[in-house]
Amino acid sequence: MDVQYNRTIQTLERLRAESTAAGGPDKISRQHAQGKLTARERILLLLDKGSFEEFDVLKTGRGSALGDARTYLGDGVVTGHGNIDGREVFVFSQDFTVIGGSLGEAHSQKICKVMDMAVKVGAPIIGLNDSGGARIQEGVDSLAAYGEIFHRNVRASGVVPQISCIMGPCAGGAVYSPSITDFVFMVQDSSYMFVTGPNVVKTVTHQDITAEELGGAGMHAKKSGVAHFTAPNDILCLREIRRLISYLPSNNRQGAPILNLRDPADRIDPALDYLVPENTSQAYDMNVLIHSILDGAEFMEVHPQFARNIICGFGRMGGQTVGLVANQPAVLAGVLDTEASFKAGRFVRFCDAFNIPLIALVDVPGFMPGPDQEQGGIIRHGAKLLYAFTEATVPRISVIVRKAYGGAYLVMNSKHIHCDVNYAWPTAEIAVMGPKGAVELIHRKEIQTSADPETVLHDKMEQYRRTFANPFLAAQRGYIDDVIFPRDTRHRLIRTLQVLEGKKAARLDKKHGNIPL
Ligand code: HXC
Repeated sequence: MDVQYNRTIQTLERLRAESTAAGGPDKISRQHAQGKLTARERILLLLDKGSFEEFDVLKTGRGSALGDARTYLGDGVVTGHGNIDGREVFVFSQDFTVIGGSLGEAHSQKICKVMDMAVKVGAPIIGLNDSGGARIQEGVDSLAAYGEIFHRNVRASGVVPQISCIMGPCAGGAVYSPSITDFVFMVQDSSYMFVTGPNVVKTVTHQDITAEELGGAGMHAKKSGVAHFTAPNDILCLREIRRLISYLPSNNRQGAPILNLRDPADRIDPALDYLVPENTSQAYDMNVLIHSILDGAEFMEVHPQFARNIICGFGRMGGQTVGLVANQPAVLAGVLDTEASFKAGRFVRFCDAFNIPLIALVDVPGFMPGPDQEQGGIIRHGAKLLYAFTEATVPRISVIVRKAYGGAYLVMNSKHIHCDVNYAWPTAEIAVMGPKGAVELIHRKEIQTSADPETVLHDKMEQYRRTFANPFLAAQRGYIDDVIFPRDTRHRLIRTLQVLEGKKAARLDKKHGNIPL
């Protein structure tokens, strides 16, 4: 009896060791030599110490239809659940040392199992991707396997946060699944995302291009907007995921966790009274205001290198997570263009799906004019942000800091699209357009026929500024709930968040809206 018992224990020990050994020491050394951690090392760094519980250690695939009958215990992916700061998350981590982390039937079933459980219990899903995509040897089974994951990505969207981390060369399905998820992290110099790699590009288009240029972290963070965050190495990347999780609720039925940073709610910042320059065409850095109002000046910026004319990110006010959307006058004067509209629109929708109040800090001269923007679809991209703010039912607050002109004023969470509470600084300028454009349009004849067009233009602009370049007309109409002292902004916002906590918004019965994608 004892001998039999010992044998089964030993068998289990052997099988577990075999599964843990993955692709073997040579492949693990290659992984390390490339500056990459293994799938298991990554999970251990991501989760609270000792909290990881693994599933399907012994699951194997059916082998290849191409004559290669080798199977691997675990089938190239480590899955399970564990804690981040004591909160449950589900995780899968692809093992590049096993057939390049490629995804076959069993590999996919393991991922689908943790995705299903995450939705069932209401916990975030974190995918650590390091995969050559669909496992070629498994043919259509591996395509079917990706389909099952895409299906679950979409079903879980807006139910639990989904975070993807790209930690190696990812191609094909290994990039489409992450792109459906809420946030994509990439590791610099060791992770790549492309639909097809440089070799295929060479064959099809005869173009020589490096992996870095085609799908490196820098390209996706600055140009394509596919990557929301980048980090210099695996360790720092995993730490940033933990940080992001700290701002998010576990699912769409809960609020984000409260974290008291002991920053007084009534802290005033007299320096803010001097933030906006007297010359209204002079730039300033919106980050000063953002860091001033947030608890402990802590801000996690999303897409920090993409469409820098708008700033999006998470912070806390009075301990509560808020989503900030702020025009950045220091980049392109804070204008709204196609990329800024896409970036902010998607961020607003995430916050709305996960009960995170939205605060807009507005200094926007308008939408970017010109043929490039028109041909690039500024109308439909701008409509994304307009749609996103308008449909959001979470508490919504705006502070107009300086310019709020025309359509961009309306789009940036204005009262007219049913923002809950709108404040303005005394430096706010709320009008259909800026003084020069407006005066040249409505006084064109008078200026052209005048003996001194320069003086007439100047006088008319002054008159326009006095009338419109302020918040008082809007305040008279009630479009602004209060004109506040800049130094009080933090305190006023925290009080407003408190009063909006009980907000309930009725929705019309429909399947879903049709946001202009
Ligand atoms: C099977 C794969 C594989 C794959 C890599 N391997 N990708 N095996 N299916 N998709 C294997 C390699 O044969 C190799 O096995 C091991 O993994 C390591 O790969 P290397 O090429 O040696 O590594 P590296 O030089 O770092 O290059 C990594 C790579 C490259 C850039 C990812 O392997 C590559 O281009 N793979 C194919 C990528 C691709 O086109 N995928 C698309 C699949 S279609 P050995 O035994 O030599 O160690 C798809 C469609 C899904 O995903 C649906 C989308 C909507």
